[in-house]
Amino acid sequence: MNRFEALVNYAKTYGFVYQGSEIYGGLSNTWDFGPLGVTLKKLIKDAWWFEFVEKDPQMVGLDSAILMHPKVWEASGHVGGFSDPLIDCKSCKTRHRADHLIAQANLGLDADGLSNEAIEKIIKDHAIKCPKCGKSDFTSIRSFNLMFKTALGVTEESAQDIYLRPETAQGIFLNFKNVQRTSRLKVPFGIAQIGKSFRNEITPGNFIFRTREFEQCEIEFFCAPGTEKEWFNTYKAKMAAFLEGLGITKDHLKFHDHPAEKLSHYSNMTTDVEYLFPWGFDELWGLASRTDFDLKQHQTYSGETLDYIDPLTNERYIPYVVEPSLGVERLFLALLNEAYEEEVIGEETRTLLKISPKLAPYQVAVFPLIKKRHQDLSDQLFASLLGTFRVTKDDAGAIGRRYRRQDAIGTPVCITIDDESLDHQTVTLRDRDTMEQVSVPINELVKTLHERFK
Ligand code: GAP
Repeated sequence: MNRFEALVNYAKTYGFVYQGSEIYGGLSNTWDFGPLGVTLKKLIKDAWWFEFVEKDPQMVGLDSAILMHPKVWEASGHVGGFSDPLIDCKSCKTRHRADHLIAQANLGLDADGLSNEAIEKIIKDHAIKCPKCGKSDFTSIRSFNLMFKTALGVTEESAQDIYLRPETAQGIFLNFKNVQRTSRLKVPFGIAQIGKSFRNEITPGNFIFRTREFEQCEIEFFCAPGTEKEWFNTYKAKMAAFLEGLGITKDHLKFHDHPAEKLSHYSNMTTDVEYLFPWGFDELWGLASRTDFDLKQHQTYSGETLDYIDPLTNERYIPYVVEPSLGVERLFLALLNEAYEEEVIGEETRTLLKISPKLAPYQVAVFPLIKKRHQDLSDQLFASLLGTFRVTKDDAGAIGRRYRRQDAIGTPVCITIDDESLDHQTVTLRDRDTMEQVSVPINELVKTLHERFK
């Protein structure tokens, strides 16, 4: 089993992520987040919200609707342009993303931003093979729109075609005026949102890396034209600091700046933060300077003015936008990959999740050494820590096995109640990473734990 397979297996075994619709045989590339997974996901989102919203007086939050007026997606360019190049293998009938075929062929060519005709030519000229059957016999490329269509309305006749949002960003642009007016914010300011997005990806895969339903943490930061470079660089630094603060090794991160000729039509600067996933560096977090494209488009399509009047200079303009956009599941996978270890100790292998106490689904586990003798005090202590820490308890099996299970799910501290606890009101505190044990007076336990988790 390679490291990626081991990681996926680990995530499933310990209740982080389950196959979606498993009892019906599964629905491919859908995933359910189990008890530990949902906690980790929430802690990631909370950490992001704390860092980028609560700590920033220039930032406010929003929770906009998933379903939006269909014109939104015409204005944003998603109806006309949000598609991937789809190609079929005539021999084995498998479907592929044509740009991915080129990337996988390792020719040193990048299909990003190329026309379908140009991509077809590369595939033909280099006789690129189907990864499934090895033949080189493909159909022409068709543009496949990634938005999920659904119907709004009770009867088929009255139903209106609408889309599940493929990004949360557009909900922010629609509310630019509302938020600016009601929050009395002056440019520069930002609006942040966390929510589900949906894309009918041609080739989802790599576990939770590319899925059809995922969560995004997005910011649209509105600034005066001409200042976008400064904000772009500010966010670049903030993003790197945030990831390193969560425990991601600096060397496992790099920026991939998009060259000018490959930029989307609305962008004058774009970079991706790439993380070293088990299969290599890949996109974790996008940062785009989107100019005034989106607000201008919505102004044109809606007929509402979306400009801003500077209260000091009386200058009227449409703000420029800098947009950091993070996929929650991608950061989840990166953090698991970063923390997951199989540590060999003599004859034994210890599964360890060396995750920051900030993100550990449980921070503390409380055990009675001997159930019959130490259970009452253990339960009392457990109850006293509930609400202050993320705490769990375990009274079944040998103490060593209980430690191992907590190591495997990332619990930084285990506390054992034993005879010393009954006689001298102390507990044994064991560290996940070093396995060192120290005795701590019960009345100093909360203070000691706070210090450890700082
Ligand atoms: N509003 C800009 C936007 O959505 P994007 O680069 O398409 O930009 C931003 O997406 C981030 O969302 C990506 O960097 C990635 O982390 C995440 N993401 C995009 N598509 C995804 C998918 N199919 N599955 C999981 N995460 C995805």
